[in-house]
Amino acid sequence: MTKSAPTPILSTDEAIRKLRGTVHAKAKNFYAMYSSILGGIVTDPALMVVPLDDHMVHRGHGVFDTATLANGMLYQLDQHIERLVRSAEMARIPLPFPPQKLRQIVIETAAAGGRRDGSVRYWLSAGPGGFGLGSAECVGSAFYVVIFSPEAYPASYYTEGIRVVTSTVPIKPPFFARVKSTNYLPNVMVVLEAKDRGADNGIFVDERGMIAESSNMNVAFVTKDRVLRHPPFDAILSGITIQRMLQLARRLVERGELREIRVAEISVAEGREAQEILLVGSSIKVAPVVEWDAKPIGDGRPGPIAKRLLEMWYEDVQKATDQLVAVPYPGA
Ligand SMILES: Cc1ncc(COP(=O)(O)O)c(C=O)c1O
Repeated sequence: MTKSAPTPILSTDEAIRKLRGTVHAKAKNFYAMYSSILGGIVTDPALMVVPLDDHMVHRGHGVFDTATLANGMLYQLDQHIERLVRSAEMARIPLPFPPQKLRQIVIETAAAGGRRDGSVRYWLSAGPGGFGLGSAECVGSAFYVVIFSPEAYPASYYTEGIRVVTSTVPIKPPFFARVKSTNYLPNVMVVLEAKDRGADNGIFVDERGMIAESSNMNVAFVTKDRVLRHPPFDAILSGITIQRMLQLARRLVERGELREIRVAEISVAEGREAQEILLVGSSIKVAPVVEWDAKPIGDGRPGPIAKRLLEMWYEDVQKATDQLVAVPYPGA
């Protein structure tokens, strides 16, 4: 075997220079990062790094959340911060700052990013301090925030609909499904499997044949007799978007477009009989499923309730002042 060139040992200056060179084309969509390790915000993507000895990196001892930035407003930020704090408690990660300070840092990082639309993702981690397992060795928990533009879903998801498959990826046990931890391996694999099978996404089903959720979104159903149904939240992530949509959908009940809203277990067999299936989450908003395991749902076209709820989502991010936090952009 021929020996390739030796692995270089870099000086600090060389390594920093090379770090600059690692900035790839997609990093133009990363606008600002806060790191409690640095104690401040950076806007150079080359500096948007996390130490390898952070237990979130090498042990997955971290939790995260994502909120939407729309029209210069953070949508449902308080609910997303509350869920982050709940996840941190469940994962036994002490807060490095009180929740109010975490909130302030998120808002100030969004302001430093200068963008009016995008995503805000933030992590609480057991923190750096060694390569062991237990977090007792960590020097203190860490907080990171990034402001970025996510890759948009294809427009056809909304106009033509989404195709899903029943995933064969093992579902997370209820405790781990309820913590929004950095262990998203099953969530990643559900999408990879779906793409391999010629679909767009997958649905997790539990061992009793009950519907759980999708990769990073919840799954709701509209029955033929116009009942909006959703599984209970004891074994899946409590989605902030679906919680809001279940609340807003009451208007559709008042107008007679829906008969009832019901949160209770849904079997796969019941789900397949639905008139509409909806994927709901911060990234997807509300999108119609038109095909499940290669069979049409309803008439195989996007349905009216998916459309109505998506309109309500857009209206909410424009007008629901109690759900919006203004970003104080410099010079605004
Ligand atoms: C597994 C999972 N389920 C559901 C959701 C939807 O939650 P939300 O509406 O808060 O984005 C997400 C996204 O965070 C998720 O990752």
